[in-house]
This record gives sequence, structure tokens and C-alpha cells, in this order.
Amino acid sequence: MPKLLTSSDTALKSSGATTSRFLISFETQTTRTLTSFLRTTTPHRLHSTGTAPSSVSADELSHFSALASSWWDPMGPSRVLHLMNPLRHEFIASCLAEGPPMHDQQQQPGQLQGQEQANLHYLDVGCGGGIFAESLARTIPSKENKTVTPTRTASITALDPSSTLIQIAREHARIDPTVDTHLRTGWFSYQNRTLEDLIESSSDSSEKKQFDIVTLFEVLEHIDPSTSSPLAFLTNCLRLVKPGGWLVGSTIARSFPSFLVNQVIAEAPWPIGVVPRGTHEWSKFVNPDEVKAWVQEGLMRGRDGTAEKAGSEALQGSMWKCEGVMYFPGLGWEIVKGSEDWGNYFWAVRKGV
Ligand SMILES: C[S@@+](CC[C@H](N)C(=O)[O-])C[C@H]1O[C@@H](n2cnc3c(N)ncnc32)[C@H](O)[C@@H]1O
Repeated sequence: MPKLLTSSDTALKSSGATTSRFLISFETQTTRTLTSFLRTTTPHRLHSTGTAPSSVSADELSHFSALASSWWDPMGPSRVLHLMNPLRHEFIASCLAEGPPMHDQQQQPGQLQGQEQANLHYLDVGCGGGIFAESLARTIPSKENKTVTPTRTASITALDPSSTLIQIAREHARIDPTVDTHLRTGWFSYQNRTLEDLIESSSDSSEKKQFDIVTLFEVLEHIDPSTSSPLAFLTNCLRLVKPGGWLVGSTIARSFPSFLVNQVIAEAPWPIGVVPRGTHEWSKFVNPDEVKAWVQEGLMRGRDGTAEKAGSEALQGSMWKCEGVMYFPGLGWEIVKGSEDWGNYFWAVRKGV
């Protein structure tokens, strides 16, 4: 049976973000108080509005919703996500360079040979307050700026189960007139819904809703294992990817170093910690070989969960890519080749054509 092709290691440049250490002091104390307050008072939409079981954990939702007010503070509790953003764009660009989407096989009228077009439609699953989604929306060509960036974004739909975070995301997007225009014209949209809702509504409609790129940054380790599983979640994501398109994500490996770094050190009290306490549960971390096996199985599963194609046929033309990343205080995130089994890593799978 053919395996997913492992791409050659692509040298990714560092984000270049130079920063001082993230200090969680007064703000974290306030956030924790707010967290416990919100846990008991804020009504959250936890479950799909349809019949599909939700993958959303009530605790995770409360935790992230409580961080909403400081989501866009570059020195706040989401600081490590802000710092990861440039690498995300570079990683996606490297995927597109290695496995071009189907569009590239058909030259458009008026398009010069080798000329790239902003013709890719993105879905960002678990977008939170919009750190990645908004930065991608900024790259959609506009009347004033027609430059095509390496992510070649034509449109982006971003969804999150937290209504509080979606509200924060929308409010922040309106600040930039270009992004606001994309919101108003529909090339950029935020939706407060679960992945399962989207899948269900897309299976109900006669038109199959699929995207060129589906992104899943720092979400896989937060889904509820009592109602869903990474396999079910990834299978749903893959159903929304067009043939030849990519599912791109980042998550954390379940290793001893990641326990020390992500649970003990990163969540330690000020001045050591870089993320609020309770952000991660080590047992929910997932290893690269697990993600690879789940996406292989996900590719073989059809819309109704049963095999759509025989195994070898479903994996033909697919690709797998994985890069370890590490956070260096004062420097930000850097690609560290061969470190994917230790802790944080980016991964991507291309659906065969
Ligand atoms: C660590 S944040 C990452 C946010 C964003 N992807 C980023 O990297 O900037 C995790 C996000 O996943 C969302 N989330 C948690 N469980 C989810 C689920 N089952 N389905 C979709 N999103 C989920 C949370 O609401 C939160 O916004």
C-alpha cells in the first residue's frame, strides 16, 4: 500500500521576530480571576446546532473565551500565538511550492506562464480571536494593493465555537480598513459555529463545500476526547479539502520534553510561564506519527465514514510534511529540524488529485 510521500526538508527561514520574554504578572492574575468568573457565568454554545455530536469541550471553551479581552495584546497570554504567525505563512507557502493545488494545472485566460494568482480559498478551523485568519485576510489582493503573496489567498472563512472570541475577532478586523472591506464584501468571514455544524450543513446542501487549504493551528490538542477523537476531527477536516488541496496544522507531541516545556515550565507562575495555567493537558497532546496515521485513515474514509476509495487509491498523490518548531525566549519561534517528536511541530497533508 503506498504511503504518503514525505517531502524533502524545506528550509524555512526563522520568523525574525525578536522579542523579550513574555511576562505573565498582574494580567495573568486578572485573567485567572476572570476565567473562574466566566466559567460560572458565561453561557457558551457548546454543541452543534444540528444532530452531529460536538467535539468541543466545555472547559476548553471557557478557558479560551476568558482570554478574549487580551487576545490581541502582543504581550498578553496569546503572545506565543502572535509570534508563531510568520512561520505559519512560510510553512503554507512551502507546502504550496511542493504540492501545487489543482488550479495550477489550468492556466487562466490572460495569465502568463508561471504567473501566480491569488485564487486559493481558505478555511481556518478554531480561529480563536483571529490572529492567523486576520493576517491571512490582509494578504487578499485589494483595489489599492494587487500584490499576490506566497499564500495566494483569494478568500478566508474562519470559524470558532466561542462566540466571545468570534466577537473579538470581528471587532479587531474592523480596525483595518482593507480587512474591513474584505469582511463587508464577503471575501473574509467569521462564523461562530463548530466544525461539525459546517460539515452537517455542507452535507445537507446540494453543493459540496470544499476549500483549497484548511488550517488547524493549535486546536487538535483541545478537542473533547469524550465526544470526539483526533481521527474523527481530522477526517471531518479532510472532507472539506478539495482534491489537490492541503490540510495544514500545528500541535504538540506527547513526550517527556513537551511535558516539561509545555506543561511545567510554560504554565509556571510568573516570571517563568508563557501561557496561562490550564491551557494544556499533556495527555491530549498528539505525536506526529499518530497524526500521520489518522490523516491516512481520514483520507480513506468517505463522507459517511465508510471507505470511499480503496486504501491505495485514496492515498495516491497525497503528501505528508512535518517540521519541529521551538520557542526561544527573546527570539521567538524557529524551525528546528528533527525536533518534531519533542514538542511543538507543524504538519501538513495534501489530498491526492
Ligand atoms: C490555542 S487556541 C488557537 C487559536 C488559533 N487557531 C490560533 O492559533 O491563533 C485554540 C482554539 O481552538 C478552539 N477550539 C477548541 N476546541 C475546538 C473544537 N472542538 N473545534 C473547533 N475549535 C475548537 C478554541 O475555541 C480556541 O479558539
